[in-house]
Amino acid sequence: MSNKLVSVKDYEIYAVKTLPKTVLGYYTSGACEEYTLSQNKQAFNRLRIIPRMLRNVCNRDYSVTVLGNRVRIPIGISPCAMHKMAHEDGECASAKAAGKHGAIFIHATLSTCSIEEVARAAPDTIKWFQLYIYKDKEMTKTLIRRAERAGYKALVLTVDAPVFGIRYIDIKNNFSLPSHLRLGNFTEEKSVISKSDGSGLTNYVTSLFEEKLVWEDVKWLKSITNLPIVVKGILSVADAKIAADIGCHAVFVSNHGGRQLDTAPASIEALPSIVKEVGHRIDVYLDCGIRHGTDVFKALALGAKMVFLAQPILWGLTYDGQKGVEDVLEIIINEFDNTMALTGCRTLADIEKDMVVHESIYSKL
Ligand code: LAC
Repeated sequence: MSNKLVSVKDYEIYAVKTLPKTVLGYYTSGACEEYTLSQNKQAFNRLRIIPRMLRNVCNRDYSVTVLGNRVRIPIGISPCAMHKMAHEDGECASAKAAGKHGAIFIHATLSTCSIEEVARAAPDTIKWFQLYIYKDKEMTKTLIRRAERAGYKALVLTVDAPVFGIRYIDIKNNFSLPSHLRLGNFTEEKSVISKSDGSGLTNYVTSLFEEKLVWEDVKWLKSITNLPIVVKGILSVADAKIAADIGCHAVFVSNHGGRQLDTAPASIEALPSIVKEVGHRIDVYLDCGIRHGTDVFKALALGAKMVFLAQPILWGLTYDGQKGVEDVLEIIINEFDNTMALTGCRTLADIEKDMVVHESIYSKL
């Protein structure tokens, strides 16, 4: 059998074989029993796509305007921490790969390349900055100013982590950032995740992140920046409504890769009611569990404007840095393109909600 990697699964298998145990554990772990982690994928598998025929699918076009920027595809890279654990070029490589495909790259606060390094490496990529609000508000403000100056186009505020989820694998492995690496956006003690008994990252978060976070803080954020604000980690209709009411530009339906609250719904399960409530007022994005072009299609049909990927990107990065990420994106985009053609959709506007149904409608047959 040839060793050629042709699917996201192939890249995953390679990464699982290659990455050090503690890194793999960190990249793949979910909270507690990892129920939500597994549901993120299974919930997609419970949905069926009903294709339409004979609709002329020549010259397909997936471009879409998101927060004022035209992007070639409704697929982007989700914020995930510490890319250099997968490859020495880290986030710079991932951001460049995103740009090659006209995809949005979301740069994480806990990245191993800095805001400025990524901006220099990938000037033509549309970049958003994922923000954690630190107890130190001045320092948080500095991060925002740096992102603004470096040309980032939106702030993605993660709101589902006032404390960290319990990730048993990281506790067992005493997870820390390998000692030759640093968090790129910080200096001194904020740039290291040191070894300790249990998860070093949980200790980092407990000592530095703001646990008191409330909606007033989102208003504060809005008052100090002109960048659009995307609130990430929303799973309830009530929160989506508050986000829209206070003038956030988008909500990002996410359960943080199943890494925070175990038994929270899969993102794709939470999506439809949130879209129904706020989709006519603000953008709704989604991540968690997207592994195939068909998953992208399902999320768009249920009302997401864009979807984002994390783990597949890390697998590509592990395999071959920027080129590996480009290849993984290519696979997903190609699968999505294939799905569009086979469902009779030439543009995103052709995707109809009732093309995606829950498998239970067939159970009575
Ligand atoms: C995590 C953080 C860093 O889930 O987002 O590990």
